[in-house]
Amino acid sequence: MTALLSIDQGTTSTRAIVFDREGRKLGLAQRELPQSYPKPGWVEHDPLRIWDDTLAVTREALAAAKLDASAITALGITNQRETTVIWERASGKPIHPAIVWQDRRTSDFCRTHQERSAWLSQKTGLLLDPYFSATKIAWILDHVDGARAGAEKGELAFGTIDSWLLWNLTGGKVHATDATNASRTALFNIITQQWDDELLKFFNVPAALLPDVRDSAADYGRTQAALLGGEIAIAGIAGDQQAATVGQACFKPGMIKSTYGTGCFMVLNTGDQFTLSKNRLLSTVAYRLNGKTTYALEGSIFVAGAAVQWLRDAVRMIGSASETENLAKSITDTQGVYLVPAFTGLGAPYWDPEARGAIFGLTRDSGIAQIVRAALESVCYQTRDLLIAMAEDALPPTELRVDGGMVINDWLTQFLSDIIKIPVVRPQTVETTALGAAFLAGLHTDVYSSLDEIAALWQTDRRFAPQQAAEKTDALYEGWKHAVERVKSH
Ligand code: G3P
Repeated sequence: MTALLSIDQGTTSTRAIVFDREGRKLGLAQRELPQSYPKPGWVEHDPLRIWDDTLAVTREALAAAKLDASAITALGITNQRETTVIWERASGKPIHPAIVWQDRRTSDFCRTHQERSAWLSQKTGLLLDPYFSATKIAWILDHVDGARAGAEKGELAFGTIDSWLLWNLTGGKVHATDATNASRTALFNIITQQWDDELLKFFNVPAALLPDVRDSAADYGRTQAALLGGEIAIAGIAGDQQAATVGQACFKPGMIKSTYGTGCFMVLNTGDQFTLSKNRLLSTVAYRLNGKTTYALEGSIFVAGAAVQWLRDAVRMIGSASETENLAKSITDTQGVYLVPAFTGLGAPYWDPEARGAIFGLTRDSGIAQIVRAALESVCYQTRDLLIAMAEDALPPTELRVDGGMVINDWLTQFLSDIIKIPVVRPQTVETTALGAAFLAGLHTDVYSSLDEIAALWQTDRRFAPQQAAEKTDALYEGWKHAVERVKSH
């Protein structure tokens, strides 16, 4: 029997899943990851906690699947992207907490150098925004004593979370990343597929820090035997949105998916062509296989599931995320209440790091149901923002494949279809991020001989077609646009 192990290290949770060849779950374990917000707009994680949790859930997933390391064909890693860790090569100790992708501490630098944004886009497909790793790396080097000198001497290593986990899984033997993760650093030229000297100079990042960049399905070494009771080949790595694109089998140009996790990320396969967006979407690497790069356009929304987490943890309107569906269904509309979850600024297509969240339209009758429903609706309105931009850059999509924890909520998924006015298709496995990493590891180890073989495994769970009149949903969306205008910083 074939078993593939997948590590999915996300923003708010760390999980490991064992899949069989057909993508069925054999065992799963998960832990929630604590967030740290040291100042407004700052978000940090503890890299050691991430590693400890990863090891724990990986062991637990193997135990849940009743398999030991020798039964695993290969391991794939997928991860929250852009989040930046710098550690000492000699001790393996991080020199600073991980600066999370949502963190806005470098927004001044980005504002001051905005005139370089178009130049940056032509090399990286990205925009000059605190979202990406480059300014976070420079910030750590400039704020930790001795870090810059240590980096220049080659004593320190930088990695996104995949590299950090790979380093630890291999006992410090492998310092590498894949092309999708590299494409989110703003230091990697996605046309030449190399770290770019001009970018390194602009961001003031020493090359000695950087990991080796490999294909998304490649030889990444083996896990240290003592960690999991035996060595396992590490054969796939991709950033979580790219892994979800693989898990959703979006292998043909024009195919599109949206993943609803902490944030929401819409990815459109654009084939072997690097295309620049005219609508402030990102161009990125969808995957790189056998040295061949497939590109994508991406719309990134910073807050989707994180809005539900905020309702639960910060304002305590709900006890658990599963309550949101019934609350939303308990009313026919929000009575004009809009929640704009710009907690960490606005991502695509607005790119306003200084915007902040707000709730509008409250009346004496507004209560928890209206606010919770407005939070869910905001995810759908933001998806429409992205689809409008995608339709202007490429052909208008005719359906959207969705996945991630939020889309088990039928009410949300139906409302999404109503707002975006095209069918929304939910696959049988909504764990597509983890599945994509497993598929990549399986591709490299001949479990699958082609992408077509993987695509044949993809199956629909439910298709949600638009049900509400377009006039009504257009009017709701107009209200959203108006609310967004009011939170913008300029
Ligand atoms: O770019 C950030 C993204 O990779 C985070 O994904 O699933 O943790 O919301 P997620």
